[in-house]
Amino acid sequence: MPIAQALSRRHALGWAGAAALGTAWPLAGAQTRLRATPAQTEGPYYPVREPKDADFDLLKNGSLAYAAGHPAWVEGVVTDLDGRPLKGASIEIWQCDETGHYDHPGDGGRVNPAFQGFGRLRLDAQGAFRFRTIQPAPYTGRTPHIHAKIKLGPRELLTTQLYVAGDPGNARDGIYSRLHPLDQAAVSAPFVRVADGLRARYGLVVAA
Ligand SMILES: [Fe+2]
Repeated sequence: MPIAQALSRRHALGWAGAAALGTAWPLAGAQTRLRATPAQTEGPYYPVREPKDADFDLLKNGSLAYAAGHPAWVEGVVTDLDGRPLKGASIEIWQCDETGHYDHPGDGGRVNPAFQGFGRLRLDAQGAFRFRTIQPAPYTGRTPHIHAKIKLGPRELLTTQLYVAGDPGNARDGIYSRLHPLDQAAVSAPFVRVADGLRARYGLVVAA
């Protein structure tokens, strides 16, 4: 079994429980369904064209290596409302570099060219994903966040944002603070120290 597959299988067990914790709600039919991850604004910096390099590793853009910021694994599992892995779907993330700039013409071309800024992955059979990037950095008016979009073929199932649990800027952020507390918890994860940097895990739930 490939290492990535073995890892995701192991992680999926833990995440299934985490996703259900505090977010499940009973339906009239006695079947327990999960609370859908809240949609949030796409913002102005979704790529205007497909980047040349759009793989899982945002710390390498083409032949350039990005050395700023705090390297982090951003990973998780995407399920439907019944907790089944959303196989065959893809997840895209995009975020600013350590100095708060996006790879987007609307952000003045100030992004560090070594930072990939955007990545896309197909979810594996367990609905898992794993990106290599930096812990998100703040920019004027926003608490640190990573934008995320989940697609099934061309269909957009969810556009949302992911946050750093416990960041002092969250409470002051206009987009974050208007979310229901359960939704804030659903899109927040601690960035914990691991052997090769930091790691954050998110459990995302979408109506397929
Ligand atoms: Fe943003």
